[in-house]
Amino acid sequence: MLPQERRILLPLDLRPVKTLEEYKALGGLLGLERARALSPPQVIDVVKQSGLRGRGGAGFPTGVKWQTLYDDPSTTKYVVCNAAEGEPGTYKDRYLLGKNPYRVLEGMLIAAHAMNATAAVIGIKKKFIHPVQRLSGAIAELEEAGLAAPGFLEIVLGPDDYLFGEEKALLEVIDGNDAMPRNFPPFFVGIRATPTERNPTLVNNVETMSHLPAIFAKGPQWFCSMGTRDTPGTVMITLSGDVQRPGIYELPAGLTLRELLYDVGGGPAGDQPFKAVFSGVSNAVILPKIFDTPLDFGSMRRAGAGLGSAGFIVYDASHCMVKIALMFSAFLAESSCGQCVPCKRGCRIITEHLDALEHGRGSQENVNDIFYESGHCTDQTRCFLPQQESTLTTSIMHSFPEDFKRHAQGQGCLGGREPILPKIEYFDEGAGRFIYEQRPIVILSRP
Ligand SMILES: Cc1cc2nc3c(=O)[nH]c(=O)nc-3n(C[C@H](O)[C@H](O)[C@H](O)COP(=O)(O)O)c2cc1C
Ligand code: SF4
Repeated sequence: MLPQERRILLPLDLRPVKTLEEYKALGGLLGLERARALSPPQVIDVVKQSGLRGRGGAGFPTGVKWQTLYDDPSTTKYVVCNAAEGEPGTYKDRYLLGKNPYRVLEGMLIAAHAMNATAAVIGIKKKFIHPVQRLSGAIAELEEAGLAAPGFLEIVLGPDDYLFGEEKALLEVIDGNDAMPRNFPPFFVGIRATPTERNPTLVNNVETMSHLPAIFAKGPQWFCSMGTRDTPGTVMITLSGDVQRPGIYELPAGLTLRELLYDVGGGPAGDQPFKAVFSGVSNAVILPKIFDTPLDFGSMRRAGAGLGSAGFIVYDASHCMVKIALMFSAFLAESSCGQCVPCKRGCRIITEHLDALEHGRGSQENVNDIFYESGHCTDQTRCFLPQQESTLTTSIMHSFPEDFKRHAQGQGCLGGREPILPKIEYFDEGAGRFIYEQRPIVILSRP
């Protein structure tokens, strides 16, 4: 274990926890016992005191979300755990589920107690076969031990769509529909709603839920003793790309990106310096000049970037940023579900302009048009996806004007490597490397 690592969510020796008995021997289930001895408002108070922030991407304060749900007068409520994990460059949820499915389920039972929930559902991609198997086995053991009523913990399998992870789409999938975000947020209209019951639903990410058992077993002050005031606790970080030691690391929030890239990641993998880092595809590009920013939600936001789901994709100077922008833009355009015209149209047009620039058919006009479309693809849309397209693309263009100028003047790039969309399929722990989904960049063309 590297000196920077602090394993709370992960087993200390990284060996998967195989049985409920083994989990109990390691201190598991104590948090649930303590939470169940408290009233729901007391449980919510502990979560607020811990300062826990959601690890699904936005860093929303978990206690505040729980209080909103609790205050809703509806008599039927649900708890949903988001295990869709579709963000490029992120693998931490599957890693956690593979190592210890009991922890996230214990967290879901704590949340269900606080919400007096009718059921707790985990939504996960059907293709995540190993985590699904681990969850099924663990649920059976929890039922057998009398810790969860039969059928109370449910698994719902979903499609391999990026949008499945968007919470309003996640609820649609759990309700048996396609991964297309609905209008209302989960805290207002939840799963299995009827004309008379809205069923407000609490949605939290796998890692967020996984923090709860230790917060209740060891106390919120203990949790606040790690990380920063802004983001207490540890953060599961996926580090991929041009670093010597890619991997999944549990680290206290507040470590700087420089420490992550050099001390944890071992520095650049080749002989080129780092050029750009992306925290998934949801935030602005991170440049070396802000590498000393602490990795917490507030600091990253103030630095003009974002922590996201802490999946850092690293590119060295051998990459051309026009290619990278095209790759991410094409992914987002392809992921748009098409319900909102500005998103469907705008994301596609931005990708087409980038494609023209990349393949020598572009000019300054394409660059100008991308800026224009980025300001409009977000008009009255249901979810955050087009905002991602807009933020990510324009931030790359502002940060690397030289790369874009060369392409706009028909000079091509200075030997940019072909990038791989880092949609992680699997982490080969022995070899310390990620296996990516092999898929070509699809450019949606005008209908
Ligand atoms: C396009 C899109 C994709 C998302 N994908 C995921 C995902 O795969 N997993 C996840 O936990 N949250 C994802 N989110 C965030 C969820 O909508 C939601 O904010 C999160 O599950 C809330 O949990 P938290 O408060 O514990 O972070 C996504 C959001 C967007 C806009
Ligand atoms: S904003 Fe885009 S991805 Fe989101 S619901 Fe509308 S069309 Fe679908």
